[in-house]
Amino acid sequence: MASSLLPTLFARCGPLTEELLQSPARFGLGMLPERAQPDGLARSVCGFCSTGCALDQHLQHGAAIGVTPAVDYPVNRGLACPKGWEALTVLRSDDRAVTPLLRGSSGQLEPVDWDSALRSFVVRMKAIQGERGPEAVAFLGTGQLPSEELAFFGALAKFVWPLNVKGFGGRFTVTPDRLPEKGADPVKIVEAKAWIANLEPDEGTAGIAVGGAPGGLLALYQKCVHLGCTVPWLPDFDFQGEKGWFRCPCHQSTYTKAGIRVFGPAPRHLDTFEIEFDAAGRLTINTGKITLGAEDNPSRAIPF
Ligand code: SF4
Ligand code: FES
Repeated sequence: MASSLLPTLFARCGPLTEELLQSPARFGLGMLPERAQPDGLARSVCGFCSTGCALDQHLQHGAAIGVTPAVDYPVNRGLACPKGWEALTVLRSDDRAVTPLLRGSSGQLEPVDWDSALRSFVVRMKAIQGERGPEAVAFLGTGQLPSEELAFFGALAKFVWPLNVKGFGGRFTVTPDRLPEKGADPVKIVEAKAWIANLEPDEGTAGIAVGGAPGGLLALYQKCVHLGCTVPWLPDFDFQGEKGWFRCPCHQSTYTKAGIRVFGPAPRHLDTFEIEFDAAGRLTINTGKITLGAEDNPSRAIPF
């Protein structure tokens, strides 16, 4: 009886033996079992959130078989959250997208080769734009895209795809019905992060502006030049007996309707955007062309 138990009690190998037996790994990865020894390493960025931790993929014959957080990367310094440690789990997912799918005449999605998929994508997108205009197509990016992919995505949207790219840094068209009356409160153009003021001659100069002030439309960047808060227009705020000012909520930098600083820690006047009228009489705000705020702010207004 005792002798029949001996092999079990003294078993020298079992299902986990190979896992327990570890040997030094290359690439500074410490000790690893034989099946997990990489023959290469590839640095990547975790795509689960926008923190951007660097992860080193352990490769065997070009395939990722393990992952460790990069110790020499300043964002995560050898650490990762549970999602980062599970970065390779998606590779084993049953519903992972590994081939393009195209909806056929039957209405069912069917696998196709990349060439057919890309061709179909381009033809259909062009047809949509041809029928409904370039703005019928939009691109949406998120923090899940690693920096390199996001850069490529932006380049594709801006330079390759023939559409009118929107977003801060681009041009925004403002129809005449959105523009303020002369002397009225400025109007916020949210998508351009801009305030549009329609100045009376000499309005908002605070007595210090230079360059003449014939009045007209002026586009002010909404960002306070102190620490970057969004500056609201306060029509009822009374400062030195006058109502209607841009007044920053955090340190009270105060600006006239032309963006001239009259109070607070802001080091200069509000910055302005380049503006022009297009052939159809609509105002275009070029948010890629910012001029630092200065005493000539009021004279940057264009007649309206
Ligand atoms: S490891 Fe965690 S914290 Fe770092 S990028 Fe990935 S999900 Fe974000
Ligand atoms: S950020 Fe506007 S006053 Fe400080």
